[in-house]
Amino acid sequence: MLSTVDAPYLAPGRIGALTLRNRLVRAATGETMANAEGEASDAHVRLYGDLARGGAGLLITGHLFVEQRGQYAPFQLGIHDDRCVAGLRRMTEAVHAAGGVIFAELAHAGSQTVMRDIEPVAPSVVPNAIYARQPNEMSAIDIGAVIAAFGTAARRAMAAGFDGIHLHSGNGYLLSQFNSPFANRRDDDWGGDADRRGRFLREVYRLVRQTVGSNVPVTARIGVTDAVAGGLSMEEGLARIKMLRTEGLDAVEVTYGLMNSYTENIRPYTGITRARALADGVLHRVFSSPVPEAYYRPFAQAVKRQVDIPVILVGGMRTTDTMADVMHAGDADFIAMARPFVREPDLPNQIAAGRRGLVDCVSCNICLVHEGSDALKCWRTRWRDLVRHAYWRIARRNWTINQEE
Ligand SMILES: Cc1cc2nc3c(=O)[nH]c(=O)nc-3n(C[C@H](O)[C@H](O)[C@H](O)COP(=O)(O)O)c2cc1C
Repeated sequence: MLSTVDAPYLAPGRIGALTLRNRLVRAATGETMANAEGEASDAHVRLYGDLARGGAGLLITGHLFVEQRGQYAPFQLGIHDDRCVAGLRRMTEAVHAAGGVIFAELAHAGSQTVMRDIEPVAPSVVPNAIYARQPNEMSAIDIGAVIAAFGTAARRAMAAGFDGIHLHSGNGYLLSQFNSPFANRRDDDWGGDADRRGRFLREVYRLVRQTVGSNVPVTARIGVTDAVAGGLSMEEGLARIKMLRTEGLDAVEVTYGLMNSYTENIRPYTGITRARALADGVLHRVFSSPVPEAYYRPFAQAVKRQVDIPVILVGGMRTTDTMADVMHAGDADFIAMARPFVREPDLPNQIAAGRRGLVDCVSCNICLVHEGSDALKCWRTRWRDLVRHAYWRIARRNWTINQEE
């Protein structure tokens, strides 16, 4: 029996009223498995059943769009219509049958949508920092409608059997656009100073909380600061987290707000040693130093210094040593991973059985470049997938502009 002193990520953890079997979290990862109407498929049920059997303490879905205009990419899961509830319920049932816990990540893409037939909306007419697409400015009526859509989405999530709600207020999507002085140039009730910029997220949180009640955990991925010049300062980001904690937020997952590229958040080749690069055929990395792990650790430390709230640390967690170190230092309460779970859905069970060291994922980001085109999977586990990927790169019938490997 392994000691949870050596492996603190294996100890049970609490988020709100809920006890989780361990501190290992599957971070939100878009699945590209929905039908054209945003409804869940058998592939979703299999994926989340496998992840739950794999032993993670908490699963967070890929982002679910709360209204049609908020869809980010093709084949994304939606929660914008009552039609979506039945498929989502099949997913949560598969998770619960395996003893797992699952939160719904609620999101709106705002100016960051890559859907060609959606006219993007945003707080102000500021081209999206990643895709440079120009949005329409939201009216006060639009703003009220989107807040209401988050509330209705939370109601649907409860009807579908989710155990909690995770709000997506990071990585350039609509909530982080309102938070940012770069994207939010308004001077009305919804922008103009820090308090008014934070109002949209506060109102969304309040309505979601009112909808689910005080016993259901509500957590959020929050951009602590922006990666773009002239964006959200860390001081303002921390004050916003403090405000939400006072409102009752149960945990925060730290990340960037606005970004210039997805690779600022989804960093390639994190933690990859020479041996792993050789073993996995990532030959161009054999003579490079590993990209540092735990790249949001300074954000987690800053939150821990200022706010009394459970912190979920995501971003390049790749070795059990780093996971233990982060938790022993008190920098985070939960360890979240996205790409490693694409490759090894049963990673927590392996770790519980004594596996130590580096995860198998080399963070090549091939799974990322296929988001919106192909169902989520690791393209490195079978040679024929790698060959297919190489062909796809050459044919490049892709809809994205700025996703890099
Ligand atoms: C294919 C792919 C899809 C992603 N989809 C989402 C998403 O739907 N919502 C979200 O908050 N983050 C999403 N992310 C970001 C991850 O949650 C995570 O922040 C990032 O990959 C860094 O963590 P990692 O190093 O453990 O992969 C996605 C990442 C990848 C690779």
